[in-house]
Order: sequence, then structure tokens, then C-alpha cells
Amino acid sequence: MPQKRFFIALILGCLGVATALAQMALIPQPQSYSRDNGAIDLPRSVEVVYSPASLEGTAAYLVQCLKRYGDIIATAQAGKAGAVRLQLNRRLSAGAYRLSIADTGIDIEGGDAEGVANGIATLSQLLLQGKGQLPCAVVTDAPRFAWRGFHLDVSRHFFTVPEVKRIIDLMAFYKLNRFHWHLTDDQGWRIEIKKYPLLTEKGAWRIFNDQDSVCRKQAVVTDNPDMLLPHDRIRVVGNDSLYGGYYTQDDIREIVAYARQRGIETIPEIDMPGHFLSAIENYDGISCFKKIGWGEYFTTPLCPGKEKTLEFCRDIWNEVISLFPYEYVHIGGDEVLKDNWKTCPDCQQRIRDCKLKDELELQAWFIHQMEAYLNQKGRKMLGWDEILEGGLSKTATVTWWRTWVPEAPQQVINQGNDVIFCPGSPMYFSQTEQKNNLQDVYEYDFGGLIKKTGNSGNSGKAGKAGRILGVQGNLWTEYIPTFAHACYQYFPRILALSELAWTEPAKKDFDKFSTRMTRHFELLQSLNVPYHTPSLEGFYGVNAFTGQGKLTATCKDPSAIIRYTTDGSMPTASSRLYSGPITVDQTTTFNLRLFQPNGKGGENVQAQFVKQGLLEALPEEGTLKPGLTATWYDFHEFKCTNMHLSPVKATYDVSDVCIPEGVNGHIGLIISGYIRIPADGIYTFALKSDDGSLLTIDGNLVVDNDHPQSPHEEISQQALKAGRHAFEVRYYDHNGGMLRLNVLDPNGFRMNPTDLYFH
Ligand code: ACM
Ligand code: ZN
Repeated sequence: MPQKRFFIALILGCLGVATALAQMALIPQPQSYSRDNGAIDLPRSVEVVYSPASLEGTAAYLVQCLKRYGDIIATAQAGKAGAVRLQLNRRLSAGAYRLSIADTGIDIEGGDAEGVANGIATLSQLLLQGKGQLPCAVVTDAPRFAWRGFHLDVSRHFFTVPEVKRIIDLMAFYKLNRFHWHLTDDQGWRIEIKKYPLLTEKGAWRIFNDQDSVCRKQAVVTDNPDMLLPHDRIRVVGNDSLYGGYYTQDDIREIVAYARQRGIETIPEIDMPGHFLSAIENYDGISCFKKIGWGEYFTTPLCPGKEKTLEFCRDIWNEVISLFPYEYVHIGGDEVLKDNWKTCPDCQQRIRDCKLKDELELQAWFIHQMEAYLNQKGRKMLGWDEILEGGLSKTATVTWWRTWVPEAPQQVINQGNDVIFCPGSPMYFSQTEQKNNLQDVYEYDFGGLIKKTGNSGNSGKAGKAGRILGVQGNLWTEYIPTFAHACYQYFPRILALSELAWTEPAKKDFDKFSTRMTRHFELLQSLNVPYHTPSLEGFYGVNAFTGQGKLTATCKDPSAIIRYTTDGSMPTASSRLYSGPITVDQTTTFNLRLFQPNGKGGENVQAQFVKQGLLEALPEEGTLKPGLTATWYDFHEFKCTNMHLSPVKATYDVSDVCIPEGVNGHIGLIISGYIRIPADGIYTFALKSDDGSLLTIDGNLVVDNDHPQSPHEEISQQALKAGRHAFEVRYYDHNGGMLRLNVLDPNGFRMNPTDLYFH
């Protein structure tokens, strides 16, 4: 008997849908996508059936996705016969799915409910691109990592229940499956704890702080309303305007259930013993001393010497655990200012009683106390990598964030514990894309640890060595006051994270990903999700020319609109439209700004076009040897200018611009000599450093990259006559940085340092 046909099959050539359907762009790239010739049209009424009954929530999620398409009436019911069929298939692994699209129906089988949700995400991306039409295809797919995390700080700025749900929808759309919810911090307590009501009655509300002021200023400076604090998070009490908000326990249950339907586990973070000001400000007797507040960088922590504190924390965990049904909870444990513990009689008594060595071990002791309690309640503890200090327990899992402690993941694994990678560089999406760029996220290689150990979250049970459970992108919201700005920071970097976390490395390719990403910009627009339009390309910060110059600006997002000014002002929606290369006869500073089709303004960049004469070369000298001289100064300042006034520590011969081996700690470096230019022309100098650096040629400042910073590249050009030119790079750093200079010839090819440098 022929199978029942639920959908109308489309004849591709006639309906003109072939091209659109042939170019389906899925992110993350599935492990296998096998396309049939046909296509189907989604009818007005779609019946979703599911079996077993435990897939009811997953089916409800699919119904919500289907309703995006015009006037579709979608319903779900338990059963096996229907147009769209959801099922479990125990032969598939956790998170894995098989999606089959044919005119006889759509089948999604998952290794578990999360797998089915992942299949729905693929179907959803196909539907959105096909505008309701679907290619006949079979997708067989499974995740690379079990932990594909997405972190949101709701303390520094608060996000409402509908906003959190939208974030969860977007996570599901990109198959991210762990929502790490940073619920408490110094700036606000966001989760109702019934035993301690002041935590939210008072701790969830604050007067505006310095970070709010920065946001407001940025709103003006960058002409960006998304940096303004939303009015619905401000309430007036007496003479004070208070900022804040919190989730009731019902809100939390609702969000946890909503995420569960979408295959996402929610992991609460209650940060302690530091980052706990919003608690200790409102309850007596849990800090070391009465005087609490901010130190130079961090706030006063809780007092682990007092029994009352331990009881307070256990009570909080009791309620938190009752709301979050999953294996993991996160205790924070990061950035603890331990000064008070050194002078607090209770802390010192605890150190003596428990035979601890110092305050570092006191922190570990506190964490272990909490962990034992959580374990007793059947939960596993996660903590930031500071929980390694003073002794890591055998059962804790570590979220590694401190890029400057690169040995931490290996240490965790060696001790038999599991680790999740979310290093500040590049996985902190609160940083700009210039600092933590998309490609670095996409191509992240886990410090070579996977190659070395063959070890990852799906490689089976933890044996003696721990595992890399997966990877996560973090968003800290000190300077992110709105949902729209949060999206702008997350997107498109979470697309890169999603593919890093999901797709096997052999199937990854950054160029192909970039092409698919461009298609996803259209999807994000149709979903009304703000994103960061890729930065403009085609020019440098400083561009030199001798006769005429030419500004060419391109953007990877074809929908982006470029506007510009030449009077120093920031371009607005009515500024001149860039429609093609612009010829320049005299020195000109361009301000270029991207706009999305909805009129929303984005990044503003400056490009100087400088008319130069060729710098004269120095007279030739016979006795030069290859390379440069590097002089190391004992330098403690944060600007390169006066470096030469500090005491000299050592000198070195170097063949390129670099930090010589053995130079570390407080570094001031002056690398000097001559650069030999083979022919008259415009040369390009790309100077990258952490922290600051400067390049001068014949005493002229060519590249200014002189700031305290994580690795950052500045690129400038200089017109030079053939021959010998005096050359100097200055560089400083105080805790282990990097320095690199690439020189490009007038055709844009990188020049060989051995041909360039002499001293
Ligand atoms: C952190 O960024 N303090 C985990
Ligand atoms: Zn104390």
C-alpha cells in the first residue's frame, strides 16, 4: 500500500524555489545532510504527534516554531500517526537526532528529548529560510561536545522573564544546551529566597552606579539608545530612583521549564564567598566586620569563620536546589578579596581549628564545605577556576576563564576533574569583537589539549583523567543594560561558538561558515534579533598616498548600509551614502558608520587618508649587520614615551620585532636599528601588542598602539623612499604579553624580516 502523503510535493523548476532551497545554510553545520530532489510546502494546518508522552513539552516547542509561518494552525497530541512525528530512538546518542523530510511526513527522532529539540532547531532554520517550504532531505547529526554553554549575568543589569525566554529560544535555535544563569553578584540579588526575603526586597534594588553612568554616556557618544537603562527597571522610593528587578520562584520555575522544552538545562550560579555584597549588605553577622563595601577591585566577601554564614549559605542552596532539577549548580568562587580574613578573629580561629595553612586554604575549605552539602543533596558543583587554588576537591567541575592561567585546564584534567572552556579571550562576548573576534572563537583549539589527550565531552566516561566537557560563551553585563545590546554582543559570535561546540573539526571551514553566516543575518533580521554587523574592511586606520588615494569600504553583510562624513562628526541616518570607491586628493579623515536595513546605526570607524611625500632615505653605511638591537628597561609605567629614562636590565640582538627569550615581568623594550626599503612606495605596518607599543621611522610616529590592553593590532601606512631608514619599536607590559610587527610591501605581501632589518 502506498504511504499516505501529508504534504504537497513541489516541482522545483516550476516554482522557482529550487535555488533558495539548494542554498540552505545551517548553523551549526550538521554531521550529515543528504538532499533529495523534491520539496514540500507546509500546509495551513499541521498536526504534530509525539511518542512517548514525555515529549509533550518538546512538541509544544515545535508548535511554537511552526506558528511563526503566517496563519499556520499547529496542534500537538500524543500518538504516532500524523504529519510531523517526534520520537525517541535509543540507538542515537544524547543530543543526537535524525530529521527526515518527505511528502509522506516529517520525522524527528532523538537520542533523548534534547536530541529531538536539536532536530526541531534544524527544521526551524530550514523553514525560516525556505519561508515555509522545505527541501526533502535527511539530516543525521550529533554534537561534538555535551556542554554547549551560554552564560548570562543578570545581576549587573537585569533581564526580564520574556527577555530571558527569547534568549533561550535563540540558544535552542543554535543548539546550545546549557544556560549558565549568573543570578547573584555585588550589584544585585535576582532570585527570591523565601527564608531571606531582604535579599530581593532590598538586595535586588540599587541606586545608579558608575557602570550605569558609563552606559548613559555611551548612549550619547555612540548615538545608541540600546545603552539607555530601560524605564521598567527603575522605581522611585522616597527620594531615590532605584534600579533593579528579580525573579520570583514561580518565574524561575517557568523559565527552567521553558528551557527544558527546548532541550536546555539551566544552571544557577550563586556566587560566593566573594561577589556577595548584595547579601551581606542586608543580613547581619555573615561578614567579618561591620564595615563592608568595595576594595580596590573587589568587594568584601562573606565570613567563612562564622557558623551563621555557613547556615545562611546552606539555606540558600536548599531553596535553589528545589528550583533547578539538574545535576550541576555553580558556586562562583572567583575574585575573592581575602584581606578581612587575615584580621578577622573568626576566620583565624577557623584556620587554626581546621589546620589550614592560610587564607587561600580557607577559601578552599569554604568551597569544600558547600560542595559536601551539595553532594549530599545529590548535586555536582561547578566553580570558576579559582577553586583550584588551595586544593580542588575530587568531584568539582571547573569553568576555566582566566586566560592568564593557561595551565589551569591541564591541571584540572590531570587531577581527574572535568573542565569547561570559557577563557576570557576569546569567549567573553562582553568584550568587543575587535578584542575577542569571531574567527578566534570559531577556530579555538582548546590550547592543543584535545590533540594531546584525545579527550572531549563525548569521549565516554571520565576515567582517571578528567574530560573537556565543552565550551561556553560568557556575557557580563556591567555595560550591557538592554536585551538589544546583549544580542548585539552575542551575535554573531554565538554562531561561531555553536559550530565550535557542535560540529566535528573535520567538517569546519571558516570561509564556508562565513558564507552561511551571511544568510543567517537575514534570519536574525526576520527574527528581529539585533546583531553586530561585521566591521568594515578595505582600509586601515592610517592610509598613505602620494598622488591620489582611494577609499574602498566593504562589509561581509550585504544588507549593511554605509554612511560617512568628512567633517569629524559621527554619521547619522541622513549622512552621505557610500556607494563605491571614493577618490581622495588631499588629506582627509573619514568617519564611516554601518546601518542595518531597519535604520539602526552601528559601529563608527575612522579612516585617515594622509597625503605624504616619500620619506628620504639615510645615506648608506657599509658596516651594518642583520637584525635589530633590543634593550630591556626596568619599566613600571603605562605609556611607552619615557621608557628610555628607566634603568637598563639587558640588551639582545634579535632578528625580528619580538620579546627576546628571558624578558618577562616588568618589561620596557626599545627595539632599534634600520629598515631597508627595496623600492619607493607605500608600506604597511601592522603592530600588535599586549600591552602598548609605538613604531617610529626616521623619528616620525607611524603606528600608535600605546595603551594598556589585551592583544590589539593597529595598522598604518607610510610612504618611503628606497634605502635605509632609522627604525624603532617601543613596547611595555607588566604580566606576560605579546609583540608582533608585520610589514607589507606596496603590493600587500608580507616582507621577510631578514631582508628588512639591520643594525
Ligand atoms: C569572572 O569573570 N570573574 C568569572
Ligand atoms: Zn571572618
